[in-house]
Amino acid sequence: EMAELGNYRHFMQKEIHEQPRALADTLENVLAQDSLQANIFGVQAESILSGIESVYIIACGTSFHAAMVARYWIESIAGIPCSAEVASEYRYRDSVPNPKALIVTISQSGETADTLAALEHAKMLGHAHSLTICNVPESALIRQSELSFLTRAGPEIGVASTKAFTTQLVALFLLAITLGKLRNKVSREQELLHMQALRELPNKIQQILKLEPEVIKWAESFANKQHALFLGRGQHYPIAMEGALKLKEISYIHAEAYPAGELKHGPLALVDKEMPVIAIAPNDTLIEKLKSNLQEVRARGGELYVFADQDAHISSEPGVQVIRLPGLGGYLSPILHTIPLQLLSYHAALQKGTDVDKPRNLAKSVTVE
Ligand code: G6P
Repeated sequence: EMAELGNYRHFMQKEIHEQPRALADTLENVLAQDSLQANIFGVQAESILSGIESVYIIACGTSFHAAMVARYWIESIAGIPCSAEVASEYRYRDSVPNPKALIVTISQSGETADTLAALEHAKMLGHAHSLTICNVPESALIRQSELSFLTRAGPEIGVASTKAFTTQLVALFLLAITLGKLRNKVSREQELLHMQALRELPNKIQQILKLEPEVIKWAESFANKQHALFLGRGQHYPIAMEGALKLKEISYIHAEAYPAGELKHGPLALVDKEMPVIAIAPNDTLIEKLKSNLQEVRARGGELYVFADQDAHISSEPGVQVIRLPGLGGYLSPILHTIPLQLLSYHAALQKGTDVDKPRNLAKSVTVE
């Protein structure tokens, strides 16, 4: 194991830093063409994807957070109704099947018991079309799905998923654009802009990784806290959820994520100086609303840690610390904002001295129920 780690202390740290390459590898064949081809999802993808009416995404854990981001993208870019659900819920509840829905499963391992059972359940209900986004070729999910897209993150060893998640997001973004093209919702000009944004992505992530020293300071200042609150809005709400999950998984700090607009409906009651509040605040259409949410936190003595971008016009002041991400991400902003949250939980765990790659009670792949 030591040899494989190279200069890194843990696989998780290595895997965080491998993301520019993992994303470039995942996109390599896709971007070698001058337009996005539906057949990246399989030979029959064009005819199958042209006929679907809705998208239903099923996954567990971190992969479920990718599903939640995709819901924002697919409805916004492709104009198709999309929902996301955790596999262990879907497989056991009564649901209304739609044979024209596309069932999408997302999984790093392709062997998660609940996700596999959920796919089987969907088929049993009469769902005819399935697609999996998976990191392991020849896995059970790949074998059992009609269409597939293989992320090329490479082997992921740290139990807490990092590079698999960001490559899943890229694959789901490709799915949203492909569905949008097939419905004439994405013009040629927009397609080219999306492709350009994808080309620039690995480099942008490389820039964001350079923020690590700043993130370490934050991790040092709240590693001794018992609780943390993560806030985001819109497509960044699932990223807040992923940030909270990472922190729980490896540092054992209790963390919760809320869509920032829900703050006043409960969690605000918990905010005091012992509760760090981590906010994802890119300069999108929701920034002004988010800023007023953040003022509510400040007014109650809460310590704010804000990930903003260059244009977000939020600055550090007593009780408010800001880390600025370079550039604007548009639809890909959730991918960019994932990186500092991964680093934050990694360094908080280092402070606490936990077993980062093998957190207590957790398994890399949950193959039994
Ligand atoms: C376990 C892992 C998580 C992972 C989840 C789903 O809980 O610890 O990191 O997100 O399983 O795994 P999958 O392989 O289906 O993505």
